[in-house]
Amino acid sequence: MRLASSGLAALLLCAALGLTVVCRNEARAAVVAPAASAAARKIDPVTMWVRYPSARDALDPAAALGRLMFFDKSLSASGQQACASCHDPAHAYGPPNGLAVQPGGPALERSGTRAVPSLRYLRFTPQFSRHLARPSSDGVEDEGPAGGFTRDGAAPTLHEQALLPLLNPVEMANPDVAAVEARLRKASYAAQFRRVFGDDIFEHPAAAATKAAAALQAFQEQDPSFEPYTSKFDAAMSGNAVFTARELRGYTTFNDPQKGNCAKCHVDAPGPGGRPAQFTDYGMVALGVPRNPDIAANRDPRYFDLGLCGPVRKDLAREGAYCGMFKTPTLRNSSSRQVFFHNGRFHAMDEVLHFYAERDTDPTKWYSRVNGKAVAFDDLPARHRPNVDHVDVPFTLRAGQRPLLSDADIEDLAAFLKTLDDGYSLAPGGKSTR
Ligand code: HEC
Ligand code: HEC
Repeated sequence: MRLASSGLAALLLCAALGLTVVCRNEARAAVVAPAASAAARKIDPVTMWVRYPSARDALDPAAALGRLMFFDKSLSASGQQACASCHDPAHAYGPPNGLAVQPGGPALERSGTRAVPSLRYLRFTPQFSRHLARPSSDGVEDEGPAGGFTRDGAAPTLHEQALLPLLNPVEMANPDVAAVEARLRKASYAAQFRRVFGDDIFEHPAAAATKAAAALQAFQEQDPSFEPYTSKFDAAMSGNAVFTARELRGYTTFNDPQKGNCAKCHVDAPGPGGRPAQFTDYGMVALGVPRNPDIAANRDPRYFDLGLCGPVRKDLAREGAYCGMFKTPTLRNSSSRQVFFHNGRFHAMDEVLHFYAERDTDPTKWYSRVNGKAVAFDDLPARHRPNVDHVDVPFTLRAGQRPLLSDADIEDLAAFLKTLDDGYSLAPGGKSTR
């Protein structure tokens, strides 16, 4: 789906335009990339100008209500689950534990089919499109499908997304919007809800649920805790911290199109208008993550989570070429996670990085076997396995070849990825608090 990196072309274009700041930043990956050479080491990796989103002094009334709702367990059928139970603010609004999928349902007796994503850094998520256009030196590059909320891009806005967990039978499990309204009516903040959304709001269950979703959206969009930008990476880019030698090597490998090539999808350069690097291009890719036996639904050998083409997402069921694709997540705070990828198959960053390095060179290490032979991409039915990405480095090798990433490269990458965890500084891009 994706075309080859146009980093160098972008660099040349930038040169032609006379190297504006943003242009230089966007081209940086290409500059650093040709790698561990002496030329690369000479380049100072720090100080990229970015514009951090300005934090509000206070949440508006709807967002303040949204905060109360986000932490309110009484909004679930079980009475034991709030948004924050799965999206824990102490874990970058990601899962608080290492479970591949979280329990849910009326008595927390059921479980979902996907790992909980972090809710940080979703602000710049573009609308879902089958053909995300990215400007390039020779016109526009078609990045293929990208964008939208949830791992398959099915929810067009945070507003529409917010109703999904409230009504999902394996999550907060309200049978309908009337049940949501009945719970809101009994909530400790019911009077506040009426003040903000109108005295008769509870007479109209559908409207009440819609307003509730709008409040949850406002909280996620306004509260600075959803985009702190307090990582060492931000500090380093702002000139307030210096990478260790290992972190710097990891950063170079991350950008090197012949080694990690991570920045191809997990973009680490500032975006339009000087927005800070988001570490995702929101692209949909089939990585061929191994099947996870810890997911209850997977006990049925005919069940497959095909991402874009279903069964969770409904509208692209006929698009065979999209089967197996999931959204590229941000890597900010990923080092502090205990589960990785859409199906939570891996539980340590080291495993994830070895998977990237050795998916194709040593498939027996990753996939189940039939008659002693590894079934590569065993979480997809055979007919959809050709959708798995073989175009982008590091996925261009064959079984038996030497991985592009050595164990030392992997240690370096892990060190760099840790610099993406928030909490290094108090202010965006600031000095260390330690
Ligand atoms: C039982 C655990 C659970 C609960 C409770 C829960 N979520 Fe989620 N959330 C998930 C999972 C799992 C996903 C990924 C779903 C998918 O890809 O289909 C998700 C995805 C999301 C996303 C999309 C993130 C992205 O990367 O696009 C948002 C936003 C979100 N949840 C907000 C909420 C809000 C608001 C609530 C409360 C009303 C909530 N969640 C309650 C588990 C949960
Ligand atoms: C071709 C695009 C692409 C490239 C190149 C790529 N990734 Fe990813 N990455 C993805 C996608 C897509 C996912 C989600 C896949 C899924 O859930 O099935 C992902 C997921 C991840 C995750 C899991 C994050 C989480 O929250 O679960 C980590 C960590 C990660 N990538 C690190 C890297 C590193 C390090 C590199 C370079 C060695 C890299 N990626 C290269 C597309 C890419």
